[in-house]
Amino acid sequence: MKSTKLKINTKTKKYSIIIGSNLGLNILKIILENSINFKQCLLIIDKNASKKIVSKIKKSFNKKKLFVHYFNANEINKNLNSVNSILDILLRKNFSREDCVISIGGGITGDITGFAASLFKRGLKFINIPTTLLSQVDSSIGGKTGVNTKFGKNLIGSFYQPDLVISDTQFLKTLPKKEIICGYGEILKHSLIANKNFYNFLNKNIDKILNLSSPYIEKAIYESCKIKKKVVEQDENEKGLRKILNFGHTFAHAYEATLNYSKKLNHGEAVILGIQSALRFSLRNSLLKKNDYNIIMSHILKANLPSKIKRFFKTKDSSKILSFMLKDKKNYSNKINLILLKKIGSPITNREYTKKNLEAFIKNELRN
Ligand SMILES: NC(=O)c1ccc[n+]([C@@H]2O[C@H](COP(=O)([O-])OP(=O)(O)OC[C@H]3O[C@@H](n4cnc5c(N)ncnc54)[C@H](O)[C@@H]3O)[C@@H](O)[C@H]2O)c1
Repeated sequence: MKSTKLKINTKTKKYSIIIGSNLGLNILKIILENSINFKQCLLIIDKNASKKIVSKIKKSFNKKKLFVHYFNANEINKNLNSVNSILDILLRKNFSREDCVISIGGGITGDITGFAASLFKRGLKFINIPTTLLSQVDSSIGGKTGVNTKFGKNLIGSFYQPDLVISDTQFLKTLPKKEIICGYGEILKHSLIANKNFYNFLNKNIDKILNLSSPYIEKAIYESCKIKKKVVEQDENEKGLRKILNFGHTFAHAYEATLNYSKKLNHGEAVILGIQSALRFSLRNSLLKKNDYNIIMSHILKANLPSKIKRFFKTKDSSKILSFMLKDKKNYSNKINLILLKKIGSPITNREYTKKNLEAFIKNELRN
């Protein structure tokens, strides 16, 4: 077992992220080493997470009192009923605040488990074992939890930091390629908004990272978590700086919503397209230099990341996309608040644009 540790210090909680490979049989040991104890524990397990690794994790708990709840992770099941099912088990089994829930799954499983943990008796211990690349580099860190409603994605939720995050890269071996690409989109985003050296590392080692080769994949996860950690520590509740993590997301959320969250374009792919739109918008507004734009775009093409927006939309979708952009959570007035890029490693925040400013641009994007 080889692992590295990253410590997060937020105002509400201090916790560690452990990144390593083949951690399964050592999970309880890692939990205890991180000063977390409990009488009983509920595992919420994504049905698609490797059964072999899950059985090693269960075995590691030895004689501890353990309950298991399997969850079918998809955006439709990311709802209050699923949270309620978890709360029901915790109540039925007489859990106390000193007990623990552990999520073993991707961002969806982590978000609903964390939300249930924040609600149960106003908060019990919560450990996240993320099993997708996206959840290992992004959603497991920072304490955003929540569910979807018929009014939109992630509209009900809480900020609730976990007590521990354990990322085992072994889990990634069973992930479909498409999901690896999605996680990579967030890694690329982190490099673009914060660290040119990390971007250069990605550019040099992209093939090895996408093939999950060690130690490249572990380094990519570690550096990515480090960037998110620094942002979250300074702005836990997204009042200011944390908004830079939304680079590309205003476009991405509008793309996903316009397609009614269809499987044709999942969240991570939408983010990759959204990053490209944000780059082109930065370029058109003379904020980003053409040379930097070309460097990033050639990386996106080299990595074979999704890049054809017109594959997903018709030209008439532009007004729908704009109306979703106007509803973005970051907007204050009737303007669209965008995170843009000045150069690799330097984001620009709080740029406000009217619907009119973006109309022609979006139409053009749909021809790309
Ligand atoms: N809380 C946050 O800060 C935050 C940040 C970004 C995204 N999110 C949320 O995270 C969700 C997306 O997360 P995600 O991309 O991990 O999606 P996900 O949880 O839907 O997982 C993607 C798919 O992979 C499957 N899967 C999970 N682990 C697997 C494994 N090891 N092998 C094979 N298949 C596996 C899942 O069952 C699912 O079908 C969205 O709901 C998004 O809103 C939250």
